[in-house]
Parts: sequence; structure tokens; C-alpha cells
Amino acid sequence: MKQQNLTVIGGGSTYTLGMMSSLIAEKDAFPLKRVVFYDIDADRQALNAQATAILFKEQYPEIEEFIYTTNKEVAFSNSDFFFVQIRTGGLLMREKDEQIPLAYNCVGQETCGAGGMAYGLRSIGDMITLVNEIRSYSKNAWILNYTNPAAIVAEALNREFPDDKRILNICDMPAAIMVSYAQLLGCEIWDLVPEYFGLNHYGWFTSIRNKNGDDLTDKIKNIIMNKGITAVDPEIADDPSWQATFQNMKVMLQDNPEFLPNTYLQYYLYPEKMVAKEDISNTRSRQVMNGREKRVFELCQRIISAGSTKNEQMHADIHGRYMVRVAASLAYNTGDTYLVIVPNNGIISNLQDDAMVEVPASLTNNGPHCFAVGKIPTFQKAMIETQLGYEKLVVDAWFEGSKQKLVNALTLNRTVINVPKAKKIVDDILKENQMYLPQFS
Ligand code: NAD
Ligand code: G6P
Ligand code: MN
Repeated sequence: MKQQNLTVIGGGSTYTLGMMSSLIAEKDAFPLKRVVFYDIDADRQALNAQATAILFKEQYPEIEEFIYTTNKEVAFSNSDFFFVQIRTGGLLMREKDEQIPLAYNCVGQETCGAGGMAYGLRSIGDMITLVNEIRSYSKNAWILNYTNPAAIVAEALNREFPDDKRILNICDMPAAIMVSYAQLLGCEIWDLVPEYFGLNHYGWFTSIRNKNGDDLTDKIKNIIMNKGITAVDPEIADDPSWQATFQNMKVMLQDNPEFLPNTYLQYYLYPEKMVAKEDISNTRSRQVMNGREKRVFELCQRIISAGSTKNEQMHADIHGRYMVRVAASLAYNTGDTYLVIVPNNGIISNLQDDAMVEVPASLTNNGPHCFAVGKIPTFQKAMIETQLGYEKLVVDAWFEGSKQKLVNALTLNRTVINVPKAKKIVDDILKENQMYLPQFS
């Protein structure tokens, strides 16, 4: 098995250390020769990197070289895989994204609604620049992207790089939901085979089967309707906000038992309820700064001072394992099935070809081979088309500097709808994001 060279972009991410534990857990499936971290924030990255160096020394001595850098040439040369997880503007701008719509009683969320639009507008430019820079050093490497909002990033990258078949956008949410299904059923996530369709953070599982082909969908629905479902992946199990979100899956299923919903549909189906529970001075971003961010960097500090990970509880979470397994399937042509975000091109037969859809695909060294979904029902089709209109208008607006298209986008988004509100929110977002979005001034 050829050993791989991996570059992690966003080495300072709160998810990096978990990703490293996942590389260790999956080392037989995805063996590594070299790992490089790259970030624009040297200090933030150094904490993750110094802890990782200790972790690798103890648990992944097979890695021949581990370096961290802010030098693009070093980071982008000679890599087989790039895992990208950046956040343009950081968690402080995420907080603004959440607060601006909330001030108008609209959903304020990282990837959904007006907050997701603001974040998308910031992510597009950095992601296009990054892909161009990576390609100037590593022409054929796989670029696997987690950077959010993945729906908007995927749409923008597909427009800017239509012929680049080695960029793949993915999301860990369906997998995190499947970890919970597996727990309800008493099996492992990897025993389950999903059928799913939608846009990123906007989709439905239509069936879940095991590897023998037994259909477990009704069994899962019955358990959720009766007992509910909880978040069990270690990364989110202790988080009250994620537990509340998982509880809402029961409500969504009771209100429409047709398909098993993605958690993110809560923002579009119950926007008033989602707004009512918010405290504008302690939105999710603040909770992440006081929670995951603090926890991860304190863990790094402890590992660095002790010079060892021996006294720490480190875990491979689904977020990391999912990305690593996707990479392994692409690298070694195993053809395993994962949910990925790809151009529709007839997969959903009654949806336009140029939609970026989230669907299962068999992953080989030639890329994703998707299974036909066929026709989807009227309700989900109409929901998807409205949301797709929003996503496409946001990307149009970024390329054209069109404020009108941003207003139109929010008019379509189920979390805003109302034109006067859309205009005010767009004004506030553009004002707050002036330095990231010169094309609108
Ligand atoms: P974070 O702010 O902790 O980390 C992001 C890192 O990216 C920071 O260290 C920052 O300095 C760096 N960065 C910013 N711009 C950069 C650039 N242009 N080049 C290189 N580095 C840059 O954020 P986080 O909470 O760890 O999340 C990281 C990203 O992963 C976010 O986009 C988040 O939304 C995304 N995410 C996606 C999924 C998914 O399902 N697709 C799941 C989890 C997280
Ligand atoms: C899930 C989603 C990601 C999102 C993350 C946010 O993992 O799939 O797209 O970035 O949740 O989590 P947070 O804990 O930062 O709110
Ligand atoms: Mn996601």
C-alpha cells in the first residue's frame, strides 16, 4: 500500500486534534508517510501542531515527517491529499453572522439562513484562492473540503473549477446522525448503508439498510417516534445544544414521517422556535469559544507541558474518521459508499443538472460514482428548489457584486422570506463584512 502525504489546511482548527486521533485509528486503511499543517495563524496552529508531534511520536511513529508551516510552497508541494477546514473571519465573525439576523427575529446560524449567507460570502474568495494556490504546486492531489457553508462553497468551486474532478466537498452531519442510528440498532455505523438525497444541510434519508440488505428504516423511525434519539458521537454527546437538536429530529419525524430528516431542517421547518430559544449575547459561536475551542487548546497546553498524551482521554470522532475513510476509498480504489456533495447531472432525475446535491456515491480513484436517486416527491423537490435558488443567487451575487441578488436570495430563504427584512439584513451584513467583500462597495 502506497503511503500518503497529507496536508491539513486550517491546522489551527478546533477539529485538527480530533482529526489526528482519527488518522491514528484509521492508520491501516490510510497509511501516512508525511503530514503537513498549514494555517495563516501561526500561533493558533502551533498549539495543535506541538501536541500532534507528541501524539504522533507515541501513537503513529510510522509517519516519517511531520511539519507545520505558514509557507505555501512548503505546504502545497508534494501532497497527495489536502484536508481543508478553514473559517474566514474566525469565530468572532461567526458570532456577527448569528447576531445580525437574530436582531430581526430571523434564524441566526452558522450555515443556515442569513448567517450562512454572510459566512458563504466570506468563504468563497478564500476557497477559490486556496484551490488556485494548491493547484500551482499539486496538480493531481485530492482536495477534500469541510469548509462551510459547504453547499455554497461547493457551488462556487464547481463554477470556478468546472473541470477539476479532484475537489470533493463533504459534511459530517449525516454520518453523525448515522452514528446515533447505529446506537439505536446496536450496531456500528459502518454496518449501515444509507439512501439519502438533498442539498448540504438540507436533506433526508429515504432508507437505511444493513450490509445484508435488510431494510431497517421503519425500525429506526419507530424507535425515534417512541423514544427519541440522542447525539452519541463523542465530539457532540456532552453538548446540550447538540442534544436539543437531536431531540428535534423526533418532532420533525412526528410532523412528517415520510423520510428521516437531517438535523439542519429544524431551522427551516421551525424558524420561530429556533429564534425563540436564542440568547443574542450567547449564540452558538460564543458557546463554541467557551466550549470546544477552550477545551481543545487547554488539552494541547496540557499535552505540551507534560510532553505526553498518556494522561489524556483522546478520541477519534466521526468528523475525522469520515474524512479519512473517504480519502482511503479514493486513494485505494475500494469503492466504498459515502455521502458526498456532487453536481446533480441527472442523479435526482426531476432536479436541474447543475445543482450541487448531497447523495451516496461509491468512491474510487476515479472519483465518486453516484447511484441514481430517481424522481423525488413534490414537497421535498419544491423545498430543495427554493433553497437551491437561494444558494445560486448568493454565489451569483459574490461573482457580480450584486446586492439585489442577495436580497432576492434571502427572499427565497425560508428563514427570512420578507423583502423589507431581507433588505435590512443584507445592509447589516455588507456593512459588517466590508473588508471581506470589496466587490459590493
Ligand atoms: P476554527 O476557526 O477553529 O479553525 C479554522 C482555522 O482556519 C483557523 O486556525 C484559522 O486561522 C484558519 N484559517 C482561516 N482562514 C484561512 C486561510 N485562508 N488559509 C488557511 N487557514 C485559514 O474553525 P472550526 O470551528 O474548527 O471549523 C473549521 C471549518 O470546518 C469551518 O469552516 C467549519 O464550518 C467547518 N466544519 C465543517 C463541517 C462539515 O460538516 N462540512 C464539520 C465541522 C466543521
Ligand atoms: C456539524 C455540521 C458542520 C458544522 C458543525 C457545527 O458537524 O455538519 O457543518 O460546522 O456541526 O458545529 P458547532 O459545534 O461549531 O456549532
Ligand atoms: Mn456539515
